[in-house]
Amino acid sequence: MMTQTHKLWGGRFKDDNDQLFVFFNESLSFDYRLAPYDIQATKAFSLALSKLDVISYKELTLIHRALDEIDDELKSNKVTLQTAIESGVEDIHTLVENLLVNKIGDVAYKVNTGRSRNEQVSCATRLWLKDKLSEIIALIKALMCTLKQKANQHIDDVLMGYTHLQQAQPITWGHYFLSFYQMLKRDKLRFEELLSHVDYSPLGLGAIAGNAWQIDRKLIADTLGFKGLCLNSLDAVSDRDYIVEFLSHTSLLGMHLSRLAEDFIIYSTSEFNLIEMSDLVTTGSSLMPQKKNPDAMELVRGKTGRVYGNLMALLTTLKAMPSGYNKDLQEDKELLFQSASEIEMILKVSNITIESVLIHPKNHEKSFSVATELADYLAKKNVPFREAHHIVGEITAYAIENNKPLKALTIEEFKAFSAVIESDVYAVLTIDFALNSKKVQGGTAPLAIREVLASNVE
Ligand code: ARG
Repeated sequence: MMTQTHKLWGGRFKDDNDQLFVFFNESLSFDYRLAPYDIQATKAFSLALSKLDVISYKELTLIHRALDEIDDELKSNKVTLQTAIESGVEDIHTLVENLLVNKIGDVAYKVNTGRSRNEQVSCATRLWLKDKLSEIIALIKALMCTLKQKANQHIDDVLMGYTHLQQAQPITWGHYFLSFYQMLKRDKLRFEELLSHVDYSPLGLGAIAGNAWQIDRKLIADTLGFKGLCLNSLDAVSDRDYIVEFLSHTSLLGMHLSRLAEDFIIYSTSEFNLIEMSDLVTTGSSLMPQKKNPDAMELVRGKTGRVYGNLMALLTTLKAMPSGYNKDLQEDKELLFQSASEIEMILKVSNITIESVLIHPKNHEKSFSVATELADYLAKKNVPFREAHHIVGEITAYAIENNKPLKALTIEEFKAFSAVIESDVYAVLTIDFALNSKKVQGGTAPLAIREVLASNVE
């Protein structure tokens, strides 16, 4: 229970803060998420202080035990955050210290020897982000796994490939799913790389200049599981580039999944009728009984806007901010927490949607998507490709006028456009031929897809 609240500053102040400002200034309502990390970091810092004899071994044991209790009490809601916020506690660092003072008295103040909230907040945020990155990477891997399974199931199933949303060339559903697999693979690499940028300890660097107590920074970093030390105090307490990177990576990941969402929305319309999304992720209309609305995919598309907005918001906050810590930096956290939770939901919902989607086989034999095959056919008979392209354009216009697919034209009709066309032309005018001819590495031919799937695509 909170019995008393103390500010971490106040000696030089005669008056209390205005109540409105207290609520304007507080970050506890969102940075409470950092509690376990601030506690962990406080334990590591006090351990290092004990090596300097600032804290005795007995006091260290007392501090550690009390911090563990505080951790439990916060996790089990024995300390209600609402009460703490209402009583004007500024942030999570203040709350942890207040709770420590309430438990063990003045000895608690010793843990702040040479320590600033500027290093604390940077440290706790880095630790939080390290854990969050591992969770997000695991969710990306799970989605990659679903995409691979779907690709395996649909290696041979034809999907019209669109450019400009106009029918272009046939591809397969397997190829489609693997395209997103590749995008997500790069997203995963970006997050993994970010993990290595964040993994440096700022503790022991104080408010801006460093620590005058010769504190063992390596001991603190090792205790907290950081792979290295931040090497400049001014940089360590005031840069948030790793959060910008996180917001940028989440934006790219959201962008990828919003494109898949858009495809699914379009493909599920009665006009396209290529897929049906499961009841698990669709809703009905309160008025129109026939409706099945793709809400899940619409929200993936929509929430990505918010994720982009968070990136812009932080970049704008950081632009031209003077060196050193400024309170503007407190604005980083709501953006970070919100983008993280949105992207986790986006990943999970996309996974359920993709896993449960039903694909309607569709016959594309009458489409003009084999026109490129006809141009290739002419080029193989030594017609220069540009000329071949022109001839096929004319043939297509003729076929459209006569309301026939290309393969329904007679050999005489073909010959009116090019004398080199023989009866072997019909063999190239099938979807199967078009697909199987794209067997270059990375192409849509089922053979090529099988090769990619068999190789180590992780
Ligand atoms: N709540 C603050 C933040 O999120 C913690 C650091 C406060 N430091 C200070 N000098 N006022 O940035």
